[in-house]
Amino acid sequence: MTHLLLSFFCSFQLIRFYSSFNVSVRNIRITNSPQCHLKFDSSGGIKVKNITISSPGDSLNTDGIHLQNTRDVDIRSSSIGCGDDCISIQTGCSNVHMKNINCNPGHGISLGGLGKDNSLACVSDVFAEHINVENALYGVRIKTWQGGKGTVRNVTFSNVRVANVATPIAIDQFYCDAGGGGARCGNRSDAVGITGVAYRRVAGTYTYQPVRLACSDARPCTGVSMADVRLSPASATGAGGLRQPLCWKSYGEAMGMIEPTGIACLQRSNGFVMPLTKPFNYTC
Ligand SMILES: *[C@@H]1O[C@H](CO)[C@@H](O)[C@H](O)[C@H]1NC(C)=O
Ligand SMILES: *[C@@H]1O[C@H](CO)[C@@H](O)[C@H](O)[C@H]1NC(C)=O
Ligand SMILES: *[C@@H]1O[C@H](CO)[C@@H](O)[C@H](O)[C@H]1NC(C)=O
Ligand SMILES: *[C@@H]1O[C@H](CO)[C@@H](O)[C@H](O)[C@H]1NC(C)=O
Repeated sequence: MTHLLLSFFCSFQLIRFYSSFNVSVRNIRITNSPQCHLKFDSSGGIKVKNITISSPGDSLNTDGIHLQNTRDVDIRSSSIGCGDDCISIQTGCSNVHMKNINCNPGHGISLGGLGKDNSLACVSDVFAEHINVENALYGVRIKTWQGGKGTVRNVTFSNVRVANVATPIAIDQFYCDAGGGGARCGNRSDAVGITGVAYRRVAGTYTYQPVRLACSDARPCTGVSMADVRLSPASATGAGGLRQPLCWKSYGEAMGMIEPTGIACLQRSNGFVMPLTKPFNYTC
């Protein structure tokens, strides 16, 4: 249980930059960190290039690169293998660009968990392109806790290739790890809002569920767009069998080829506008 809570804070890491600006990290290899490998906290102007991170897929809480309260980040041409999120983007991050990243194995690229313990979370302007995720639990994921406040906005995942990924595309507004405990995980009237998320050209194979958009009833996801998403079952799928795509309280549009179909909730709002059941009370 404790290790899962530590995962959220990434309290232990091999290399940490705190309150550091205009930092460049390149041409290094980091292997077998006991927990997070590389963390940037309260920093800005970060460039990471040509780094290799490798730890086993079953090593707990070993995020590859962990960002919090950090803006203007460029991570490129790097390979990350670990037992947790390949790149983890936490509250207070904006203008984060990722390009030519290989994640294998691990939990994919992840925004969150955000809004834990009713906290305010703000993440904006995230762009990930030419991302290759293999042998992972997720491909690209946004996860928020029930009861949080704030918003995630303007996120694009473009040219993502997946192979043997359990759930390639996921938005989970019901995120709750085992350390969260009973009542804290129930439905609440608040949630971190998610608006403006684009998936463009996401292709490859999955082993469990191709798309899982699970947004909250209190604050549905808006402006979610998908264009050219082609996901097919991997030849060896999980023992539990495959699940159909889930699309719950998520509004936006689907364009181009979408396979498999079954994300119809995206089309219902006819575009980007959708009646919010509650106004946004918290601006980031
Ligand atoms: C970081 O670089 C930017 C752009 O070159 C510059 O404007 C800024 O002052 C620098 N910040 C620090 C803390 O050196
Ligand atoms: C990338 O980093 C490795 C060390 O991990 C180094 O050997 C290699 O020359 C670097 N590549 C480039 C293009 O700088
Ligand atoms: C969305 O984020 C991208 C990447 O940071 C940025 O270039 C773009 O200007 C942002 N768009 C809006 C409307 O803020
Ligand atoms: C929360 O609401 C969702 C959607 O209405 C439902 O599927 C889920 O079972 C609920 N969870 C709890 C813990 O009540």
